[in-house]
Amino acid sequence: MTETHGFGGNWTEEKLKRVEKYLKAYATIMNKQNFRFAYIDAFAGTGYREEKKNKIDNQIFLFQQNDIKEIETYSKGSARIALEIKPEFDKYIFIEKSRKNFTELLKLKEAFKDKEKKIDLINADANSWIIDRCNNYKWQDNRAVLFLDPYGMQVNWETIKAIADTEAIDLWYLFPLGIGVNRLLKKDAGKMPASWEAKLDSILGTNEWKEAFYNEGTYGTLSTFKLVRTMGSPGRC
Ligand SMILES: C[S@@+](CC[C@H](N)C(=O)[O-])C[C@H]1O[C@@H](n2cnc3c(N)ncnc32)[C@H](O)[C@@H]1O
Repeated sequence: MTETHGFGGNWTEEKLKRVEKYLKAYATIMNKQNFRFAYIDAFAGTGYREEKKNKIDNQIFLFQQNDIKEIETYSKGSARIALEIKPEFDKYIFIEKSRKNFTELLKLKEAFKDKEKKIDLINADANSWIIDRCNNYKWQDNRAVLFLDPYGMQVNWETIKAIADTEAIDLWYLFPLGIGVNRLLKKDAGKMPASWEAKLDSILGTNEWKEAFYNEGTYGTLSTFKLVRTMGSPGRC
């Protein structure tokens, strides 16, 4: 049986629809240019995504709440979506760190036999692979769309910088604002564990966030009071 992995919800569907639309337009345009062009999926997953939904049935009103079963549905993940885009890319590069997910990803070569030679599957950390490829590749003749779709704060700023320095890659990055950065930015900067600070430094590429987010000022009219404002949510005091 094919293994899948569960993540996201409606927004995941929306995200993948947008990426798909972009990839179609990109491939159509690049097909008329003289560049070789690749799709790079650096957090590729299994090729599928698993969704858990409550079973919706036209007869649902006949059932008690307990009869409503949670069912699993499997939809295409970004890797499969990209492989079905027309016109085709010259190359498809899928990177996945988890051995288990990578084993599933290997099946893509079988499922897309006609594109087998165009598919590169890489079981590695996305950051190291991307930095190496960005710094050691002939980008004059090559172009790529790179999709960064991590679960959390796995992408380092050096990676983003290396991508930008190629001036040849279109980047789609699902930035972990709500599920990552905002959660680490506690009201009181002084109480933040050092490991969280290091994580924020690595994703933002600077420690200037401390000053930008934790901007303390004294304001007073009727009486003097202190207001600690954060850039992310101005209302949080
Ligand atoms: C949100 S899922 C990707 C979903 C995929 N875009 C899709 O639509 O099917 C994130 C994936 O990144 C993998 N991952 C996590 N850290 C990684 C890393 N440092 N390098 C490469 N892959 C990583 C996880 O194992 C997981 O499969």
